[in-house]
Amino acid sequence: MLRSMDIHRQRTLSLLIWLPVLVVLTQTLVVCSLECKDQCSEVGTQNATCDNTTGVWNCTCKPFYSGPLCSECKDGYFNTSSCQPCECDKNGAVNQTCDGHGNCFCKANVNGSKCDSCNDGYFNLTAGCVICECNGHSDTCDAVTGVCSDCKNHTTGVHCDSCELYYYRDDTQGLEDGCQLCPCDDKTSTQTCHYDADYDNNTGSVVCDSCKDGYSQPLCEDCADNYFMDNSTCQLCDCNGNINLEDTGNCDPLTGKCLKCLYNTTGRHCEECLPDYHGDPIIAKNCTYSPNKPDEPTRASTSTNIITITVIALIVVIVVIAGIGLYCYRQRHYRKAPLPFWTIELRKDDSMSFNDYHNLDSSLIDDVLVAPRGQLRMGDTSNYETINS
Ligand SMILES: *[C@@H]1O[C@H](CO)[C@@H](O)[C@H](O)[C@H]1NC(C)=O
Ligand SMILES: *[C@@H]1O[C@H](CO)[C@@H](O)[C@H](O)[C@H]1NC(C)=O
Ligand SMILES: *[C@@H]1O[C@H](CO)[C@@H](O)[C@H](O)[C@H]1NC(C)=O
Ligand SMILES: *[C@@H]1O[C@H](CO)[C@@H](O)[C@H](O)[C@H]1NC(C)=O
Ligand SMILES: *[C@@H]1O[C@H](CO)[C@@H](O)[C@H](O)[C@H]1NC(C)=O
Ligand SMILES: *[C@@H]1O[C@H](CO)[C@@H](O)[C@H](O)[C@H]1NC(C)=O
Ligand SMILES: *[C@@H]1O[C@H](CO)[C@@H](O)[C@H](O)[C@H]1NC(C)=O
Repeated sequence: MLRSMDIHRQRTLSLLIWLPVLVVLTQTLVVCSLECKDQCSEVGTQNATCDNTTGVWNCTCKPFYSGPLCSECKDGYFNTSSCQPCECDKNGAVNQTCDGHGNCFCKANVNGSKCDSCNDGYFNLTAGCVICECNGHSDTCDAVTGVCSDCKNHTTGVHCDSCELYYYRDDTQGLEDGCQLCPCDDKTSTQTCHYDADYDNNTGSVVCDSCKDGYSQPLCEDCADNYFMDNSTCQLCDCNGNINLEDTGNCDPLTGKCLKCLYNTTGRHCEECLPDYHGDPIIAKNCTYSPNKPDEPTRASTSTNIITITVIALIVVIVVIAGIGLYCYRQRHYRKAPLPFWTIELRKDDSMSFNDYHNLDSSLIDDVLVAPRGQLRMGDTSNYETINS
């Protein structure tokens, strides 16, 4: 009994000894956890414990925070008043970190504080911003789709790779060339065109897309078959229906003369029967061979002959009358007035007497014999001619 009493006393005693130690330890623990709170960052710490065996403060950080005292931001976060995610674009940024203002580090040709947009002239952030593909006709494009904007040189299309309406280009020479205005007139075509490298046995040509009636490709300048150029427009050849429209070359493209008259007809417009054929070439179209029958064309030619002869005769008469008139006129106008003129006819045996023969030019009457008593007498015929000459 006494022994058991002793054991009980001993236990109570040891309890009395350890109790203050426990109290001290408990108090120390309380103090420790308060000090942990003070040491670990207030904004960054979720929970702080004190390792009572090692005495090292153990700070459990809130999300975004790091460091032994939870006072720093994790990579990818930045600190203003509290840690915030950088939110750098994963395609546009070099890495996911940012500076203290939250600016990310961008790849080339990328901009924006989060590196989430492309520089002008670049597109597709997913691909890290690549240069716009506009074939040299524009410097800008849609940042997302890459569709070129403001294509120059009359180009259009996603990559400025085609021509505007009414413009064309030889695409086989590359897409860098500008587009040219179609050489297609609005009077003869739809004004749209394209380049056909195979045209004309591979020499290539610009070709107007669609010509109006009567005009032919490539440029709708030339007349189509069965048309001819008249007054700078293409007119349908008039052959009075005496041609086969399925056929080609029915008329001369320059003059419009019908070249392939059918049904025994002939003439510029297939408007008459062939020689020795008779009938109605235009409506009944029944020109048939009948060589002897005098018919309208023959009569027509006879009357033509009569007219011709009459005209010629008239011309002859007019010419003759004019000739006579001219002759008379000349006669009247140019005939000289007769000079006063004396003719003295002397026969061989005639003799004249002058009152004063000494005044006569003796050289003129050299061979005239002067007879005695003032009489002139001609020697012979030769003397007579001498005086006259
Ligand atoms: C992120 O990139 C920047 C710029 O190149 C560099 O200074 C920084 O050290 C990088 N950060 C990490 C965590 O790689
Ligand atoms: C952007 O780039 C990505 C990856 O290279 C590609 O799959 C996508 O088709 C591109 N987008 C455009 C619009 O080019
Ligand atoms: C396209 O247009 C620009 C300016 O409008 C000009 O400088 C350039 O020479 C042109 N390019 C071609 C191929 O015509
Ligand atoms: C096309 O060119 C070839 C070779 O140059 C030639 O033999 C042929 O006659 C040409 N054809 C026409 C329709 O010009
Ligand atoms: C030629 O055509 C024009 C326009 O169609 C017209 O005004 C002119 O009178 C025509 N001339 C002749 C000689 O037919
Ligand atoms: C041609 O037809 C017309 C009208 O039908 C007729 O009057 C004429 O006699 C015909 N001529 C010949 C040569 O058949
Ligand atoms: C053309 O003349 C021949 C011979 O007279 C005749 O047989 C034929 O029917 C004529 N053709 C026409 C379309 O009249």
